[in-house]
Amino acid sequence: MAPSLHVVVLAAGEGKRLKGRHPKVLTPLWGRPAVAWPVDAARALLPERVVVVGGEHSAALAAALESRAVALARQDEPLGTGHAVLAARSALADAEGELLVLNGDCPLVTPALLERLVATHRAHPGPLTFLSMELDDPTGYGRVIRDDAGRVTAIVEEKEATPEQRAVREVNAGVWVLDLPSAWDDLSRIGSDNRAGEVYLTDLVAMRVAAGDPVDACLWPEPEDVLGFNDQRQLAEVRDVLRRRILDGHLRNAVEIVDPATTYIDADVTIAPGARILPCTMIEGTVSIATGCDVGPFTHLRDGTVLEEGAKVGNFTETKKSVLGPGVKAGHLTYLGDARIGAGTNIGAGTITANYDGTHKHPTRIGRNAFIGSGTVIVAPAEVGDGALTGAGAIVTRDTTVGPGEVWVGLPARKHRDAPTDAPTDAPTGEPSA
Ligand code: UD1
Ligand code: CA
Repeated sequence: MAPSLHVVVLAAGEGKRLKGRHPKVLTPLWGRPAVAWPVDAARALLPERVVVVGGEHSAALAAALESRAVALARQDEPLGTGHAVLAARSALADAEGELLVLNGDCPLVTPALLERLVATHRAHPGPLTFLSMELDDPTGYGRVIRDDAGRVTAIVEEKEATPEQRAVREVNAGVWVLDLPSAWDDLSRIGSDNRAGEVYLTDLVAMRVAAGDPVDACLWPEPEDVLGFNDQRQLAEVRDVLRRRILDGHLRNAVEIVDPATTYIDADVTIAPGARILPCTMIEGTVSIATGCDVGPFTHLRDGTVLEEGAKVGNFTETKKSVLGPGVKAGHLTYLGDARIGAGTNIGAGTITANYDGTHKHPTRIGRNAFIGSGTVIVAPAEVGDGALTGAGAIVTRDTTVGPGEVWVGLPARKHRDAPTDAPTDAPTGEPSA
């Protein structure tokens, strides 16, 4: 039987070099906090337990990871990566087997890479195995030092490295497998006598080598998978790799993306095969797009948008928390927020749902087969019935109900014409299907 696997993700560092507006590990990356990416990759290995080590932002970290089954541990002061792993000890009290340790700032790690590292560890003797990669520009990473026979002897952090060591291009990726429980003793023996005054997890290597143990580095051939981000340049690079991976997933799923170079889609967006995404389009948060939909060009779909089959949204249109029923068209210069729009309705150019009164957001309901004239403003809450029509430039004021089949015009919009008497009385409700 395979040894049981436990995971620690380190997320208590300060991220000083990034100077971002969020704590580094909570930097949003395509709709998920950065730390959620390695956490999810590790969870794919079905470990017994995942412990995330947080620091001064622990409360925000807990909130950001709420939907994931992880335990939180706290490192009160960021005294280094070795110290951070020890902070998880009490959460893993009697754990035996293997401990997979990942940096929280490596959002590109994949389950395949983690599986390979664990398999390498199991195949070789020795109490620890870490992942390495070769970089053209190793700046900022710990260098992997080998002896003349090619055996790993140490990892030397950049701050501590001699010019000769800095020239080494094989670096530590920051992903480890350690044997439990022996790792705890080793970790507690690492000192902090170095330029940073930190307890370097990387010092484990020289310690075990000095004790006569074989230490393996598992060289991963795809450096892209293990890029960390310490500064804004690296963050932009990581973000771009993730963006292309997300798009690639949709392309493989038969979604048509006309110009991947200008398309930005968050990780929790669902798009059915046969939908088409046109250039310069951003889709954020949790959004679902059915088959036959056209989105773009120049379109911003925000959290909570649902496009049902064949809906078309484009040309400077923004949607938020809105359900557009089958075949709805909102093709030009429009804002739809907190709206539910029934099947077949046409939203004219320049339509605005004015959903915000400065304090609260209010809903707009528009029925099926309605025709919203160009430049209509609907001040929510308000309702437009099935088959109703608003004239160009109509301002539908708050709490108004435009009845089914009626025609309303003007400012404020007033009834211009009753519904035709032969209008069907069993008109559908205007509720898009969920
Ligand atoms: C670390 C490695 C380096 C490796 C690189 C890979 C060490 C000493 N160095 O360097 O060899 O090449 O990752 O990306 O391990 N953290 C804590 N508590 C702390 C310090 C850090 O939780 O006290 C967390 C950070 O939030 C981060 C991770 O550990 O997620 C790595 O810390 P960071 O400061 O980014 O390490 P690097 O300098 O990148
Ligand atoms: Ca880092």
